[in-house]
Amino acid sequence: MDEGNVENLPKLIITIDGPAGAGKTTVSRILAHRLGYKYIDTGALYRAVAFEVRAAGLSPHDDAGIEKLCSIIHLKFVRNEKGLRLQSNDLDITDQIREPEITMLASEVSSNPSVRRYLLDLQRDMAKGKGVVAEGRDMGTVVFPNADIKFYLDASPKTRAVRRHKEFMSVSSQTLKEVERDIKKRDKNDSTRIFAPLKPAEDATIIDSTDLTLHQVVELMLCHIENAFG
Ligand code: DC
Repeated sequence: MDEGNVENLPKLIITIDGPAGAGKTTVSRILAHRLGYKYIDTGALYRAVAFEVRAAGLSPHDDAGIEKLCSIIHLKFVRNEKGLRLQSNDLDITDQIREPEITMLASEVSSNPSVRRYLLDLQRDMAKGKGVVAEGRDMGTVVFPNADIKFYLDASPKTRAVRRHKEFMSVSSQTLKEVERDIKKRDKNDSTRIFAPLKPAEDATIIDSTDLTLHQVVELMLCHIENAFG
């Protein structure tokens, strides 16, 4: 898609769902940049709630405690000299939320209905009136069921583990085996929970990125968007 077509594009809502390590974050960032759209990383929001749950010393099963906590946390994305950052009650928690412990806790906490309710409104508010690329697990099924374009990005568990391991090698001491174990556990948690489980929306275009570079994935998506709206 060339720059002229991008300029003519209306403010679309584009959703990208899929399991951990499928390449959603990289692809969503590049796609949003190419289109001049806002990028919404909803996994970061669930991680932020998990961070606050741990900071408050709550159990991930303490429904009442977590509901109360959600009423006092204020999450917002800000752009500064370090790039796109996430603040919780004005504290920058962007780096802490990538710790393996928070990653697993986010998967547990995300099955809590009050957390999902709290983040549902926040995610919709963030997208109001804008062209957005929103990535997560339930973007096309629950949060933006009327999205203009929906993608479901997948890859084999082995490929996903290798990507995640490479990505966090400098900040995490986890072995490839441990990363693969955690990914499988999260796949199971995320896809079998009662509320908003991970699954492709019926009208999503499914892309398997196992044998593709993430740039090839972006090109495929841009072609698809151009065919539909260019
Ligand atoms: O995309 P991620 O790895 O940063 O997501 C962390 C966890 O958050 C993931 O295991 C499940 C949860 N999540 C969710 O339930 N719904 C979303 N839309 C995004 C993430």
